Amino acid sequence: ETGHVTLDPGFTNTASTTSAITYIDGEAGILRYRGYPIEELAEKSSFLEVAYLLIYGELPAPDQLSAFTDSVRNHTLLDEKFRAFFSAFPRRAHPMAVLSSAVSALSTFYQDSLDPFDPEQVDQSSIRLIAKLPTLAAYAYKTSNGQPLLYPDNSLGYVENFLRMMFGLPTQPYEIDPEIARVLDMLFILHADHEQNCSTSTVRLVGSSQANLFSSVSAGVDALFGPLHGGANQAVLEMLERIHESGDNIDSFVERVKKKEPGVKLMGFGHRVYRNYDPRAAVVKKATGKVLDALGKSDPLLDLAMRLEEVALGDDYFVERKLYPNVDFYTGVIYKAMGFPTNAFTVLFALGRLPGWIAQWRELMNDPSTKIGRPRQVYVGPGERHYVEPSAR
Ligand code: SDX
Repeated sequence: ETGHVTLDPGFTNTASTTSAITYIDGEAGILRYRGYPIEELAEKSSFLEVAYLLIYGELPAPDQLSAFTDSVRNHTLLDEKFRAFFSAFPRRAHPMAVLSSAVSALSTFYQDSLDPFDPEQVDQSSIRLIAKLPTLAAYAYKTSNGQPLLYPDNSLGYVENFLRMMFGLPTQPYEIDPEIARVLDMLFILHADHEQNCSTSTVRLVGSSQANLFSSVSAGVDALFGPLHGGANQAVLEMLERIHESGDNIDSFVERVKKKEPGVKLMGFGHRVYRNYDPRAAVVKKATGKVLDALGKSDPLLDLAMRLEEVALGDDYFVERKLYPNVDFYTGVIYKAMGFPTNAFTVLFALGRLPGWIAQWRELMNDPSTKIGRPRQVYVGPGERHYVEPSAR
């Protein structure tokens, strides 16, 4: 209360009231999707199965999963006219900027079936987005390096299809590494939802105006782009590369972080909710070593990251502030090992987060108590005053 304005606690009825989708215990470092621990899903499930779980609330029976998978597989193609969309961008366009524009533009091909309150149309939009986002992502990347766009190959699995469109060429067969496909599927699971993070709150806020799913997801992609959010995985790798190339020793870098030198943060560390190790980071850290071994590669940046973690977790500055590695701290190293360019890392985050955005938007639309998001502010500007003619200023 400020006497005349009742402060609206955040985005009442849009983002931060109740939800049955994701449970996070920030102190204990627990994350569960619809009650299932993230560690179990990462080990035993598949990304499309987790997408089904997040959207429909239950693990699918085998026939439900195959029907869902078939629907996704049969919607991976884009309208042929849409391919021209990508040629409008400069070669250096960041794939995240291309992706958010493409998602919004994609809705123009379906504008007769975007009703947020028609369950069949919402299912159609959900399938179209899950099916086409990998195609859009691959095309955004191909646009940045001038290579031809490959059509999806529906004989492949979800992740395999994406890898082939990302790295394949029409001039030669593309050999999919099953280990990379399996690990990428698991990484998508780890990113699939995370309660009311910045981008999901954005999707809900836009959805609270009854905007369609494509427009809401496009806004979510833009929020995710920021370096404090999904853009952190790219920022972590750039931080590690700077330290490695400069020969800057870790202790002096950590001192600069503690002194809060402008622009010097330990990217990939800290979290708005976790005051403990992000359970996803623990899974990624383990997988990173395995992928490098499987690929017969070593990367000094992994050793550097692990050393940074060790120094930080042994330093009161970080311990007192409960700053631990978050999901983005190791993902850049593993994506690089898989052959992804740095500017595609956040696109991979968006691909993983899509089912969560969809599930949260659907939950909001189905909640009769939802109101349009309209937070208030406490006015601290000048009191009433009257116009002054220019000559008298
Ligand atoms: C994601 O919300 C989600 O769920 C997001 C996400 C998801 O799945 O959607 O988990 C994905 O976005 C993970 C976060 C990725 N971002 C980064 O790694 C960027 C680096 N991290 C920070 O910018 C920061 O930790 C945030 C943005 C994540 C959180 O910011 P806060 O809430 O301001 O951090 P805080 O309140 O916990 O900070 C407490 C103190 C402050 O110092 P003091 O004022 O007390 O002296 O810790 C400091 C902060 O300056 N601090 C850091 C730091 N993070 C916080 N100091 C150095 N390096 C950091 N990374």
